[in-house]
Amino acid sequence: GPIMAVEEKFLRFHGLLVPKETHDLESLKFALNFAFKDNDVVAVTYPKSGTIWMQEILPLLLNKGDLTPLQTIPNWDRVPWLEEKRLALIEDQLPTPRAMVTHFPYHLMPPSLHTSKAKVIYVMRNPKDVLVSSYYFHQMAAFLQDPGTFDEFLTTFLEGKVLFGKWTDHVKSWRHTDLGDRIMFITYEEMVQDLPAALRRLSEFLGCNLSDQVIQKIAEHCSFKMMKKNPMSNFSLVPSQYMDSSKSPFLRKGVAGDWKNHFSSEQLVKFSSVIKKELENEYSSLPWSL
Ligand code: A3P
Repeated sequence: GPIMAVEEKFLRFHGLLVPKETHDLESLKFALNFAFKDNDVVAVTYPKSGTIWMQEILPLLLNKGDLTPLQTIPNWDRVPWLEEKRLALIEDQLPTPRAMVTHFPYHLMPPSLHTSKAKVIYVMRNPKDVLVSSYYFHQMAAFLQDPGTFDEFLTTFLEGKVLFGKWTDHVKSWRHTDLGDRIMFITYEEMVQDLPAALRRLSEFLGCNLSDQVIQKIAEHCSFKMMKKNPMSNFSLVPSQYMDSSKSPFLRKGVAGDWKNHFSSEQLVKFSSVIKKELENEYSSLPWSL
């Protein structure tokens, strides 16, 4: 049954489910003790909120639009996950300034995040679209449990029995940090709506000082269409026994609002009431109505 599948595929770590395929206790411990440097940048996401998009964007912003990393290094080594096995292997090869991504909640971030001047970008996406994206991701990724029907998966998602736990816990953990002006919040929807404007905001936050021409070039190369064609970003290097693009591509639709094609009105009521209740006071400051 589904519970067995969960035990088979995930490790339990500080109450969170973490895929065994890409993580082990060693990599997780490595992350808990990671030494952030002052000029590091880390993009934080709940899974399916725009992680690989940031893996495309950050190197381009930080190296003024040089396309080499995008064309030569797979996304997981270009901007590695803090908590995955790969980081320890390639840490020494990362260019300065280093860019990373993480799905960790705030309280699991290493002490060095607080003592360094590293910058944090929190990317948030409408949870209804996160659920839909995750539903398809579970169908294509062999290292995740079979999602069952959309209705079943909606319950699984709301119960937090998915990688990195409940969406509401993740979002809440990052909304009140002591990082001050070292953290910037951005939404997936904002990036979909006007990528150049989002890139200018990111560039300013990171102090990149880029011309409009470079911003335009970066926007072009980070479009959904271009990323889908980039073998270093579209996961075509991963054998289909692990990720089966014929079931659903990783770069699937890349739009805001696909939830409208999936939710019934009953599911919408159930989803919204749980999210609303769990977010409490935070609910009113969300950029979308749920
Ligand atoms: P969909 O499944 O809705 O298409 P993550 O990288 O956190 O796993 O998130 C994956 C989601 O981000 C997928 O959403 C994927 O298509 C979307 N995405 C990745 N790059 C994108 C881009 N350049 N433009 C729009 N969406 C993008």
